[in-house]
Amino acid sequence: SVGNTDSRGGLIVLEGLDRCGKTSQSGKLLSYLEGLGHSAELWRFPDRTTSVGQMISAYLLNQSQLDDHTIHLLFSANRWEKRSMMETKLKAGTTLIVDRYSYSGVAFSSAKGVDVEWCKAPEIGLLAPDVVLFLDIPPEKAAERGGYGGERYEHLEFQKKVAQCYQILRDSSWKIIDGCRGIEEVEKELRDIVVDHVLACKKGKPLSLLWS
Ligand code: TYD
Repeated sequence: SVGNTDSRGGLIVLEGLDRCGKTSQSGKLLSYLEGLGHSAELWRFPDRTTSVGQMISAYLLNQSQLDDHTIHLLFSANRWEKRSMMETKLKAGTTLIVDRYSYSGVAFSSAKGVDVEWCKAPEIGLLAPDVVLFLDIPPEKAAERGGYGGERYEHLEFQKKVAQCYQILRDSSWKIIDGCRGIEEVEKELRDIVVDHVLACKKGKPLSLLWS
């Protein structure tokens, strides 16, 4: 329809354990959407390019020590500093494919023993994803894939706890994707889900906020 100013992009989030495959799938989804003629961008959290992001990066590389609550709030602040740009892009019709978001924030911090409700609080008011694609893979399998880069959280025992913490965050926006299959099979399933959501957003599905 001509002059449909309500048409917006979709907020598509990929979540999962380290080495679940979401980073390569995010790139494939971007190419696919662009190939269909949609305006789309790939984002990731943490965004290590900002000054907050650099503090997070130093922490993840074990170059600095921070209290569990402090680093949690930095991860959250890193999303807040991108929030207005996110809203602007979505309203301008650009779909954002986002590699990790608030669910990582809560799952990784609560896996360290921080209270879940406390973890969720600073995320309230961020934009809610239109769909969360959870790439489901057993922690043991992710560890077998190798390539754990030696960052702070990349250890099997911790990833097992993160997997449990993710479970309690599932809501109606989640699609659980079996990430143990071949790359192309996973890609095919993701494509169809994403296109459905992008079209729904284009037709005027309103933006909503976390954490409802
Ligand atoms: P990421 O940059 O995706 O990992 P990689 O270096 O493997 O590409 O994320 C870095 C780590 O930060 C990852 O183990 C998950 C964790 N994390 C949090 O603890 N809280 C958060 O809010 C986010 C976004 C990530």
